[in-house]
Amino acid sequence: MEPHATTLAEVKAQAEACTACRLAERRRTVVFGVGNPQSPLVLVGEGPGEEEDRTGVPFVGRAGKLLDQALMDNGLDRTDVYICNTVKCRACDWRDGKPYNRPPAPDEIAACSQWLDQQLRIIAPKVILCVGAPSANTIIRKGFQITKERGKKFSCAYAKTAIATLHPAYILRQMGAKSDGGYSLLVEDIALAWMEAQLG
Ligand code: URA
Repeated sequence: MEPHATTLAEVKAQAEACTACRLAERRRTVVFGVGNPQSPLVLVGEGPGEEEDRTGVPFVGRAGKLLDQALMDNGLDRTDVYICNTVKCRACDWRDGKPYNRPPAPDEIAACSQWLDQQLRIIAPKVILCVGAPSANTIIRKGFQITKERGKKFSCAYAKTAIATLHPAYILRQMGAKSDGGYSLLVEDIALAWMEAQLG
């Protein structure tokens, strides 16, 4: 484990050299986080996909565009919040020389928690919005049931309030002719998180 750093830039630099788990072997970029580190609201997703691995920016693929839309529907954009992920490197399996995205494994999440932990302690937000189950399982509690427990307020080690919401990639899979896939819930949960973040 690296010695404890004191600024976000130092933690980022240390994370960029991390080889604590197998994801370091094939990553192109360590996707650390973007946005306003002074914001009272931090969004924590699952982990980078292909586009994020290529660009170094979280949530820039299809799911990211939906997240941007949900922020916009609340009158917000990426400069109002800070956005990062539970794991900083792309989790994928390689078959026939090709990468296939997969959820991060528990040991990868555990190996990466040193970076998330320091990042959240330095930013010290009022509210954390956990975007998806791996984030809620890491930040709120193990066994968190996202579809049953989303949109509710919890306490956590890093902020006065933690709220979980549906992952936009899940919403995209559920969307159909008759359903918004839960998009309105994502918008609602961001609204609640932002309102809580404005409280003293
Ligand atoms: N999904 C995530 O959880 N994070 C990203 O950065 C991109 C997609």
